[in-house]
This record gives sequence, C-alpha cells and structure tokens, in this order.
Amino acid sequence: MTLAPFRTRLTDLFDIRHPLLLGGMHHLGESGVVAAVVNAGAMGFITARSFATPDALRQDLRRCRELTCGKPFGVNLTLARRAGHNDAVQDWIRIALDEGVRHFESAGNSPADLVGPIQRAGGVLIHKCPSVRHALSAERLGVDAVALVGLEEGGHPGANKLSAFVNGAFALERIRVPLVIGGGIGSGRQIAAALAMGADGVVMGSRFMVAEEIIAHEALKARIVAADEHCSVTILDSLGDTWRVLANDTARAVQQREAQGARSHAEFGDMILSARTRERVYEGGDVEAGIVSLGPAGGFADRIEPAGAIVARLMADARHATARVGALMS
Ligand SMILES: Cc1cc2nc3c(=O)[nH]c(=O)nc-3n(C[C@H](O)[C@H](O)[C@H](O)COP(=O)(O)O)c2cc1C
Repeated sequence: MTLAPFRTRLTDLFDIRHPLLLGGMHHLGESGVVAAVVNAGAMGFITARSFATPDALRQDLRRCRELTCGKPFGVNLTLARRAGHNDAVQDWIRIALDEGVRHFESAGNSPADLVGPIQRAGGVLIHKCPSVRHALSAERLGVDAVALVGLEEGGHPGANKLSAFVNGAFALERIRVPLVIGGGIGSGRQIAAALAMGADGVVMGSRFMVAEEIIAHEALKARIVAADEHCSVTILDSLGDTWRVLANDTARAVQQREAQGARSHAEFGDMILSARTRERVYEGGDVEAGIVSLGPAGGFADRIEPAGAIVARLMADARHATARVGALMS
C-alpha cells in the first residue's frame, strides 16, 4: 500500500518531505550522515561545536552542499552554559550563512543572540529545549519553531522530569509556533503518535547512531544493535547537569564517584571529556572507555544500515500506524 507523505508546518518551514529532524550530534553530526538524511527527505544539522577550527566547519559545509546537490541542510548551534564558552557562535553563524545555510537548530541556552543574525539573513531557527517554560521564552524571542525534548533524550535533557509526550502535550496547549517533540522516539509508531497528538514533527538522535554514515567504530554500532530499551542511564544528576548516556563501565564509574560525593565536573577527570569519547570509543572502538550520549530509542536500532534506509523505514511505519488509526474510525 502506498500512502501519501505527511505535510506539516515543519515540512513547509524546512522545505522537507518528512517531518523528521536529525538533531545535532557532538563529534558525529557531520556532512556524511547529515547529507544522507537530507537526501532521504528529512532535515539534519551539522554540529558546529564538533569542529576544531572555523575552517574545518566551512570545509564540511561545502562537502555537505556537494553531497546534497544543493538541497537545504542545517547547522546545530549548541550553546554552553558556562560563560566564555560561546565566543565562537557568531562566527559559526556567519560561516554557515556565507556557505548558503539557512536552517539552524539551537540548544543548551537562550537563543537571544541568535535570532537576529539568523533571521535578518533570511534564515530559520528552531530552538530545542527541555521545558514548556523555556519553549515559551524562545517563542517570545521570535524563534521560528520550537523542539521540546523529554527526559528520555540521548544527551542533555536538562533538569526536566517529564517525558517527551507529557512535555509535548502540555506545550501544544500553549505554544503557537511549529512544535517538534523528541526524546525516546525510535519507531514510526511514535512518529505517528506525535503527529496525531498535534506536533509538527519529531527530532531524533539515538536511533541514528547505527547509521552507516555515522563516523563511529563498528563495535559501538554493534553494541547498540544488541541493546534494548534499558541501554541508557543518566549521570551527573547530582551536579544538576543530567546527561543520558550508554550504560557502560565509564558511566557506572561516574555514578559511583557521584555516590561518593563528587559534585564538580573537575572531580571526574577526563572520564567525562568528549575528546576521550572521540578517541577511545568512536575511533578506538572500546565501547566501555568513554561517555556516549544515548537514550532508550537506541534500543530500536536493529541493524547497521544507511541513514536513508532508517528514514524510509521510520516514515513507512509512521504512515501505516496513521492509516491504522484512520481505519479504527471507519
Ligand atoms: C551521540 C549524541 C550526541 C548529541 N549531541 C548533541 C549536541 O551536540 N547538540 C545538541 O543540540 N543535541 C545533541 N544531541 C541530542 C540530539 O540532537 C537529539 O535532540 C536527541 O538525540 C533526541 O533524543 P533521542 O536521542 O531520544 O532520539 C545528541 C544526541 C546523541 C545521541
């Protein structure tokens, strides 16, 4: 059975075929996987913070433009909460605009300084945040869309204690701009549920960790394929910096140090550094040796395959789930 694609305010805003966003992914969200999801009809964001230099970012944007043959793709602007760690952000925006990028995802802190430079250049900004309160502030600042994530999100779901679908349902009562929900979404059924609820789309990450184009060691992908919905734990809750990650030896060691009273990032040494994850896990293939952002949606990953195949399967399943609901009423 061939079913028509979904059309929402998000597909119109981002000029895409499917209401699906691949969110930023530190050290992994680069041109290969982003181009693959864009070519499959979704939207992906190259994660600016991953690049060692502005020129490295520029080169990757150019590569993405070639791989996508001019289709729009996006850039993720992850803002640090620590003062002095966002000096490069305006540079990232300038470089991205220079290279023809018009789609942006922000996260991590208030997008107050981003809306103006992006929109004056004709760009579109979706701000990703963990609570309705933050979403309302972002809307007041003039962002074009909001992504609301729940506590299931792989990465940094914030202090929020609500699931994606609870957060999303409350947000839908109050947010006027297009709204996307994310966190724990790894199947087409959940995409259908999000759309049925009234969301304009979904933002995903963990489910794509096993995509062929993701530049991480096959051993990590095999570990995630073998994993189930209990594959993640949270760390650094006691520091008010909740991080949802793969349940591995390093995550357990961090939890143990928290239990012993560690309350500052420095007390965890290099265990929580992203450079260690990149070198030892993503490149080296030792899946126990570093912290890997991951949520339970990773449990849906059943094989290593191209990102485009993941998008196609998700959207076909979402259409069938939607048709099933329609049939219930006939
Ligand atoms: C490995 C990994 C790295 C991530 N890095 C970032 C990041 O640098 N910036 C960001 O805004 N979100 C980041 N995220 C969050 C994703 O963009 C997305 O919001 C999230 O994965 C959605 O929840 P899910 O993992 O349950 O699908 C990351 C997620 C993963 C799995």
